[in-house]
Amino acid sequence: MTIQTKNERTEVLTEIDPLFQIPDEEVFRYDETFGAHHYQRLKTVVRKTEGAYIYTEDGRKILDCLAAYSSANAGHHHPKITQAVIDAIKQGRASVISNVVYTSALSLFLKRISEFVPKLGPRFPQDGNKTLPKNGGVESVETALKLARFYGWKEKRIADGSQEIIVFDENFHGRTISVISFSSSEKYKEGFGPLTPGFKIAEYGNLDSARALVNKNTCGILVEPMQGEGGMNIPPEGFLMGLREISDKENLLLIFDEIQVGLGRTGKNFCFEHENVIPDAVILGKALAGGLTPLSVLVTNGHIMDMVFTPGKDGSTFGGNSLACAAGIAALDVLEKERLAEKAAETGAVLKKRIIDIASRSKVVKEVRGRGLFIGIEVKDGNAMKYCHKLLDLDMLANDSHGHTIRISPPLIIGEAEVDFICDRLEKVLI
Ligand SMILES: Cc1ncc(COP(=O)(O)O)c(C=O)c1O
Repeated sequence: MTIQTKNERTEVLTEIDPLFQIPDEEVFRYDETFGAHHYQRLKTVVRKTEGAYIYTEDGRKILDCLAAYSSANAGHHHPKITQAVIDAIKQGRASVISNVVYTSALSLFLKRISEFVPKLGPRFPQDGNKTLPKNGGVESVETALKLARFYGWKEKRIADGSQEIIVFDENFHGRTISVISFSSSEKYKEGFGPLTPGFKIAEYGNLDSARALVNKNTCGILVEPMQGEGGMNIPPEGFLMGLREISDKENLLLIFDEIQVGLGRTGKNFCFEHENVIPDAVILGKALAGGLTPLSVLVTNGHIMDMVFTPGKDGSTFGGNSLACAAGIAALDVLEKERLAEKAAETGAVLKKRIIDIASRSKVVKEVRGRGLFIGIEVKDGNAMKYCHKLLDLDMLANDSHGHTIRISPPLIIGEAEVDFICDRLEKVLI
């Protein structure tokens, strides 16, 4: 099937179903008329994705330097992950199955991910991790909040309803009512009350600020080992270790949200490995199923998981469905066998060095920061989107983090040609 545009046929879009052949103008109109306007989208319609690139109807090939906020770490439609999904469908293993029975896909995935994550909760007796699967990232954040609260009630004898969790300013953990309740961004919360109580916000990177919030009702600490949406912020060295020490001393559950920065993105499988700190629980999502299906998990020490989640305490119709698990197993294989974390470290080091050089010659850049292929370029005028629009005109997709920072987070498979491409575009836009 070939797409017929106004004036030309495009080569890259030859196999798209007729259903997807409505012209760009209609795409915009339907979205405007029938969709919620909760995203301010860039005016580009993506028709196909492959590897590090996305394609438009008129044949534009755009380098994807956003990768769906770290979801396409392995590249779009990675052949092995795609094949796993196709096989699951062809072999009749893909349809959602009631959670009252077992599936081999879920069991295999639970084993794979539990063993892939370093052993969590080192101070607890049971050796080995257990995993609770969900769909979108925020669902697993919610599961983690339940974990910490129940732990506080059961283990620390905090009165139910009084449990408190320490979080950090500029955090981003998703969009449910409870999760926006502890956002430091007023815009996320305004008009959505009543909000969920039980959270205390400390200053990111400031251990004294976290320590000062601990009281007899504190049950856990939830933190991003590096902040993505908050402005691509790396905490000062020793911060995560300090949180570990506070958690050990006060018997708190230390939970790391690695949804955006985990699974190779920052040059390690897990961002917390930069500081060699082991948390009590980890939340993963986005790239977990190769960007092909939603899949998220809460992984924790088996002792804690068994204490909190007994039948009736949690559940999800699609959480851990066979299709997502098949994709998840394949995505973890790709992450390991193709050494995506190492690649991100190597390519990211070269890219960051070159971006720092561009920044040194630029009048508009305030600071460059990042790890692996997670690099932020903060601009002096605070309007990163202005530069992102120009980059898109030059066939490079990027967006802002926290308004002031251009986020560069391409698929981890990019090579020298893409690094040259990115630097060429940044040079044109920032100099
Ligand atoms: C650190 C972090 N936590 C949680 C979430 C929420 O994930 P989802 O959008 O899949 O619910 C995000 C999404 O960007 C994130 O970056």
